[in-house]
Amino acid sequence: MNRYLLPVSVVGTAVGGAVLLKDHVTGGTCPSKATIPGKTVIVTGANTGIGKQTALELARRGGHIILACRDLEKCEAAAKDIRGETLNLHVHARRLDLASLRSVREFAARIVKEEERVDVLINNAAVMRCPQWATEDGFEMQLGINHLGHFLLTNLLLDKLKASAPSRIINLSSLAHIAGHIDFDDLNWQKRKYNTKAAYCQSKLAIVLFTKELSRRLQGTGVTVNALHPGVARTELGRHTGMHNSTFSSFTLGPIFWLLVKSPQLAAQPSTYLAVAEELEGVSGKYFDGLKEIAPAPEAEDEEVAQRLWVESARLVGLDMSHESRVRGQSCPR
Ligand SMILES: NC(=O)c1ccc[n+]([C@@H]2O[C@H](COP(=O)([O-])OP(=O)(O)OC[C@H]3O[C@@H](n4cnc5c(N)ncnc54)[C@H](OP(=O)(O)O)[C@@H]3O)[C@@H](O)[C@H]2O)c1
Repeated sequence: MNRYLLPVSVVGTAVGGAVLLKDHVTGGTCPSKATIPGKTVIVTGANTGIGKQTALELARRGGHIILACRDLEKCEAAAKDIRGETLNLHVHARRLDLASLRSVREFAARIVKEEERVDVLINNAAVMRCPQWATEDGFEMQLGINHLGHFLLTNLLLDKLKASAPSRIINLSSLAHIAGHIDFDDLNWQKRKYNTKAAYCQSKLAIVLFTKELSRRLQGTGVTVNALHPGVARTELGRHTGMHNSTFSSFTLGPIFWLLVKSPQLAAQPSTYLAVAEELEGVSGKYFDGLKEIAPAPEAEDEEVAQRLWVESARLVGLDMSHESRVRGQSCPR
């Protein structure tokens, strides 16, 4: 009996330690119990993964949730699931393809026309490390969907968000932004050899820079904007990397993944927290790693880069520059 005691206690300690480490690494659940009846929330890319779970969490808290997805059939199915699970009937599906500026404009026009208010906009959708594809408007796909599509969408909904203030914008970036660099000479990868990873990192850095610049421009409006890294989660994001379904990743990396990777439900907690927490009222221009505010990468803090990216993004998506100068003149005199 005694000879088993040591190995058993070693294994027990290792398992206990692993569980504790997993809890620590994957972060906790949203500490706020706030409900949001009467509030309208838009979540992009909400048919699966973190977006769907975020929509579900917020539907549970009584919000009117609009799922904005490129595939309306998948979107309707997700909305139905969420209505069934939460018994909240105010969960609706709308078509939004962020790889098409026309689609972004149509979606925004419909929201402006049909919705009385928009209290929370969660820019969640993304594509990661896809082949060198271009959007309908000729942008590199990752920059086009992850940054430029959301950039235009947010700007087109700004008046509605301001009219609904206090309101919140939440941008899903990633820890990957740290490895990013904005190459103004070749934003759309037309001159260099395409690097899927660097393109993803650039797009996620662009999102933090956009968050910072938008927050400066929104000072005094009652609209806040923050960026977050949700943690590493088991979703469909890796669909273009080959790791998603590979036997190697399942077996060899399985234990490491188990330790480090969150469920989509847990990865939806940071977005939920930023959307509802009373203590975050007025907090803007910040970057959160999970539930914790931290400093982003140095390039993400560079105001000059952020301003330049704003001007370039506005030019690329054809944002009305007269409106642009009016916004700058009013809220960000510099
Ligand atoms: N999972 C992670 O480990 C992780 C880590 C760091 C950051 N993030 C960030 O978290 C967010 C959610 O990712 P996820 O892990 O939940 O990924 P996911 O499971 O792949 O979900 C991505 C969502 O974006 C949608 N989408 C893609 N292209 C679109 C387009 N052109 N127009 C509209 N929607 C589009 C997808 O729709 P379809 O299903 O139709 O393709 C899907 O609904 C992303 O911003 C991601 O960068 C995730």
